[in-house]
Amino acid sequence: MKSLKFYHLTDLHYYANERIGSSGAAYKFKCDVDQKCMAESGAIVDAAFKDICEDKEIDIVLISGDLTFDGEQQSHDALVEKLQKLKDNGKRVFTTFATHDFYMHARKYTDEEGETELPKYTRAELRKLYNDFGYSEAIAEHKNSYSYCVQLSEDVRMLALNDDGDFDEFCGYYNDLLEWIKEQVEDAKKAGCEIFAMTHHPVVEPSPVYPLFSHKAMLGGYEFTTPYLADLGIRYIFVGHTHIHDIDYIESKKGNRIYQINTAALTAYPLAYRKVEYSDEGMDVKTVQIKEIDYDLGGKDVLEYAKEHFTYMIKSVFDSIENDYEKFIILSQGFSGEGEKLRKAQPIVQRIGKFANSLTFKKLCTLAGCGKYVAPEIANDSIIDFICQVILNMYSGREELSPDTSQYKAFVPFCKRLGKIVKLKDYQGNPVALDKLIADVLYDDNGIDDWDAVLK
Ligand SMILES: [Fe+2]
Ligand SMILES: [Fe+2]
Repeated sequence: MKSLKFYHLTDLHYYANERIGSSGAAYKFKCDVDQKCMAESGAIVDAAFKDICEDKEIDIVLISGDLTFDGEQQSHDALVEKLQKLKDNGKRVFTTFATHDFYMHARKYTDEEGETELPKYTRAELRKLYNDFGYSEAIAEHKNSYSYCVQLSEDVRMLALNDDGDFDEFCGYYNDLLEWIKEQVEDAKKAGCEIFAMTHHPVVEPSPVYPLFSHKAMLGGYEFTTPYLADLGIRYIFVGHTHIHDIDYIESKKGNRIYQINTAALTAYPLAYRKVEYSDEGMDVKTVQIKEIDYDLGGKDVLEYAKEHFTYMIKSVFDSIENDYEKFIILSQGFSGEGEKLRKAQPIVQRIGKFANSLTFKKLCTLAGCGKYVAPEIANDSIIDFICQVILNMYSGREELSPDTSQYKAFVPFCKRLGKIVKLKDYQGNPVALDKLIADVLYDDNGIDDWDAVLK
């Protein structure tokens, strides 16, 4: 097989404010409470596309959905112009769209009028709009789902799988699409081609905690679909949606492995995308970060700026639990929190939040009867700061708090004690051991570096 190089970007969530014209405190609030850098999204997309254009070695760009912030027509129109520039620079661009491109609340935010609704495109209109960015090169198209198959090189094909499902309760593949995927894989094999896939939703849990708080955000029916894809012979799938930077795999009962390369949202910390080389050596995946953007960041480095934005947002979550519960519900949507469930649980969540905000490692672990595990250097560290760090680590693919660290040594025994009172269950009702779960969140020990890895 001839080596094939490409870029993978996802979840651009581009908000074309230069055309939309949101402004004032209402817009600032919206920007502040989102994990993504909404106001800066255009400049971030431009910076990524500029770097890609300058790379004369790679002419393929994959983008796996959530192209716009919430589906604003103006954002799509402006993005298509940016994609056209990539094309004019000799790049072949392959896109799929996802729920944030047609199903969300596209809004303009101003102090005079508050939130006003903006027009959106239908899925059929998006298919036409993005025709030159994937569909026009298709060697096969599954019309019901807007999925397609392309020949990337003489011996490599790619499935761009649209997993919109019913857009709401079920994002996944219906039977006719599963059947079509099977046909495409068989056709590729007959033609002597390798085939891999990209889709929007994750088919492998990017963190053990993810399906617990957001099972619906996994590809619907992934427990069946992922081994099915592996057994067909699809070994690699590039995904987005979670905004978590992660590489993981599962093995089917028949022993077939499928790797999932989940890339963070381009416009949220760590402002990353992937540079990939596919060859007989396997899939060589590397992370590239945005270096600088054309936007006034008050003299800050762009990565530091995005990190501060993310941290501020997470801290606001804890602060708002105690002081502004409606804001907390808005913020929790960034983590796929479900408003109604949270509203029902308000008294208990608020009590926990208030208590948590006052805690240090020493106070927390002493209360639980495991104070002896707390090393002096972390005794007075705030638990909330620690949790912020853990969340940031998870999203940026740096779950590096190993069993040797003081934080792990103190927090895991605490979770073991807590697990005797708080009985967690997964979505199927099976008990989940809290200490084991948290240990896996603190330290990702699957043996694969989430940033740079050669996957065989
Ligand atoms: Fe997204
Ligand atoms: Fe998404």
